[in-house]
Amino acid sequence: ITRFPLIPIRGVPLMSCIAQNWDPIWAFRPDPSDLLIATYPKAGTTWTQEIVDLLIHNGDAEACKRAPTPVRSPFLEIHSPPPIPSGLDLLKTMDPPRVIKTHLPFQLVPPGFWENKCKAIYVARNAKDNLVSYYHFDCMNKTQPEPGPWDGYIHKFMRGELSWGSWYDHVKGYWVEREKRNILYLFYEDMKENPRREVERIMRYLDMSVSDEVISKIVELTSFKNMKENPMANYSCVPAPVFDHSVSPFMRKGEVGDWKNHFTPEQSKMFDEDYEKQMKDANIPFRTLI
Ligand code: A3P
Repeated sequence: ITRFPLIPIRGVPLMSCIAQNWDPIWAFRPDPSDLLIATYPKAGTTWTQEIVDLLIHNGDAEACKRAPTPVRSPFLEIHSPPPIPSGLDLLKTMDPPRVIKTHLPFQLVPPGFWENKCKAIYVARNAKDNLVSYYHFDCMNKTQPEPGPWDGYIHKFMRGELSWGSWYDHVKGYWVEREKRNILYLFYEDMKENPRREVERIMRYLDMSVSDEVISKIVELTSFKNMKENPMANYSCVPAPVFDHSVSPFMRKGEVGDWKNHFTPEQSKMFDEDYEKQMKDANIPFRTLI
């Protein structure tokens, strides 16, 4: 297994297997009916994918299992080692409407999405929890660059040196475009606080209408506990040596405020001071506790 080095595309560090395949990604033409789910890694991508998938299938978990691929939104899974086909190849085998996942920052999303007025859901998670989750993920995902020690990892995050670039630029990039591009901008903390409200918000955005019972079922099926046991959601389909679930399970903790168990008071202070500078004028209502 290769821990891919990072290569910048327009200043954004991407895994070499993505950067070297950049032209077909940029040229990708989605169908207007395709839905994009965009996140900085570890912000709640899989949770949102699961909710959307269940909404599309009217809460029928069995129908979701009959989807064409266990990794259901394959657009950027192009780093999967052979024989798993690349995301772009998988998309060619799937009929629209498709749910397509990306971790690309706004400015690197293939322009076809906006030209075709595709719907897009963005999920953001507070910086500290997002960073903690990403650290554990980089320890277990053997295709990502070595995370190194925790303290150094915090600084890499602050400098935007991790795979997919700066968290700060990422959340701001989609935030400023959300109205013009009709992007539904969600927060992980809101989903934790009131999952039903957020599932309904997604339903309305997708112009769907499902019954109250189905909403309740979706909320139940997408609880952390149930998703952790669901092989369609817990990434057990990507076993070692690619994802070493014994290092850290993909469904790790699923909580708001776990950063308190990782940051020392000094690290937290230093991080907050830098955060103030980087997020000045952003006005994005993040919460690090609920
Ligand atoms: P933790 O590492 O903090 O546990 P992504 O899907 O973007 O990679 O994000 C993964 C993070 O979302 C992990 O965070 C994972 O546990 C959390 N997560 C996934 N499903 C969840 C759910 N149903 N409820 C709460 N958190 C969930």
